[in-house]
Amino acid sequence: MKIDPEELSTRELYQWMTQLITPRPIAWVSTVSPDGIANLAPFSFFNGVGANPPTIMFCPANQRDGTPKDTLANIQRTGQFAVNLVSFADADAMNATSAPYRFGQDEFEIESIAKADCDQIKVPRVADAIASMECSLHTAMQIGTGPGGANLVIGRVLQIHVRQDLILPSQELDASRLDTIGRMGRDDYIRTGSEEDVENASLFDLPRPKKRSL
Ligand SMILES: Cc1cc2nc3c(=O)[nH]c(=O)nc-3n(C[C@H](O)[C@H](O)[C@H](O)COP(=O)(O)O)c2cc1C
Repeated sequence: MKIDPEELSTRELYQWMTQLITPRPIAWVSTVSPDGIANLAPFSFFNGVGANPPTIMFCPANQRDGTPKDTLANIQRTGQFAVNLVSFADADAMNATSAPYRFGQDEFEIESIAKADCDQIKVPRVADAIASMECSLHTAMQIGTGPGGANLVIGRVLQIHVRQDLILPSQELDASRLDTIGRMGRDDYIRTGSEEDVENASLFDLPRPKKRSL
């Protein structure tokens, strides 16, 4: 089968791309608005860019009305964000924060997710996350326009936090116990499991939360 992107709608292309480009790591991105209200949302068009300088990228698409999502709007105004990594234990909380809350609603508070201060930026991070990266905005590039229009955000990593129980006596990361999850197509995810418990590495599904706004 051959697919010509010119013949498909944005929605159809989204389905093909998100079912083919798998598994995708998940950036659980925290930001703050200029008047100090925190925001937290997941993004799976996410990856590292490089180590020199230390940079990561993620891609917040425009909302259905063509305006930027709250995460991008905040980053454009403050130039700061934190990327929290997602383990299986955080899957439900992460998914809950993907609901389309109105601008100015704090998903940390709504979903009872504990905040911790960052060291170098004025943005809260997820206190219990396996790891968090404090970032300053390197580049925000508009790739598309209108509903679903793509945007690319590159962040320079200023500081990395790793949960202490994941650090070995040698001061190295015990990567075998991260149990990160990856996004597959539609509502499917993959769990990486841990070395002691490989049977936990499996596909699972997590339906998106019903649309709601307080
Ligand atoms: C696992 C997961 C991955 C997601 N990845 C993306 C993504 O890469 N780009 C995007 O625009 N939205 C993505 N979303 C949807 C956003 O999280 C959702 O639109 C959210 O409401 C945006 O919040 P904000 O307006 O506070 O920024 C994803 C949702 C989930 C559950």
